[in-house]
Amino acid sequence: MLPPRYPIRLGVNIDHCATLRQARYRDYSRSCGKMVEPDPIACALTAERAGAEGITIHLREDRRHIQESDAYRLRECIQTHLNLEMSATEAMATFAKKLAPEAVCIVPENREEVTTEGGLDVINNRERIKAIATSLQANNINVSLFIEPNKEQIEAAATIGCKAVELHTGAWANAFYDRAQCEVTYQCLCEGAELSHQLGLAVHAGHGINYHNARLICELPHLQEVNIGHSIISRALLDGFYLAVRDMKGILANCGK
Ligand code: PXP
Repeated sequence: MLPPRYPIRLGVNIDHCATLRQARYRDYSRSCGKMVEPDPIACALTAERAGAEGITIHLREDRRHIQESDAYRLRECIQTHLNLEMSATEAMATFAKKLAPEAVCIVPENREEVTTEGGLDVINNRERIKAIATSLQANNINVSLFIEPNKEQIEAAATIGCKAVELHTGAWANAFYDRAQCEVTYQCLCEGAELSHQLGLAVHAGHGINYHNARLICELPHLQEVNIGHSIISRALLDGFYLAVRDMKGILANCGK
């Protein structure tokens, strides 16, 4: 397969940074002098310095990680592309229009899920998704739909008038170490990417992409953008852990001298 002719954009999903902050500081407002950490905005700026072309956040209905105030601060501070993942509701569309990110990715949202599970059912929610996507695009926000690499869903997405699809790579990522299943799921992604392109949709991919499987996903035809969260945050925790412990040890070593 020929490699893509353009570099693939990296959108870094920083939700987990906010998850960690909420675990300790759920009830604190972010006010001057308080050490409310880690700050997702600092995380986003570091991602940009490291070369990320975009920052992705999911403002969930239960506000379990990213808060509306984070979204507004990011809008002000980041230099790259802001991609807001949201469910297809009127309330979220109103918020998105106020925030004015460069892009919105419409995702399904179930209350009890740990993370986004499965793609959008565009076929059975076509009118609602179309109304939301149309109103966002009228406000100069590029809309993508997060869907499974399934022919019928891709065809339905193409009738919505959105700019892109983000193909759900979770099934493939989960099957990565099972050779037969990996081949089957990868083939679905390739066919899905090809069909999306033929139907005029830009191809994005996300979910479960990590340091082991990213090379293979980059070979998907027509791929323009990947959105990665969990694996980057996990790597950051390990790579930063040594320095963090060493710096605290340094403070303690000099105490009382
Ligand atoms: N893309 C979408 C639409 C998602 O919902 C998520 C998870 O929030 C991601 C990408 C990132 O997935 P992961 O955290 O597995 O890299």
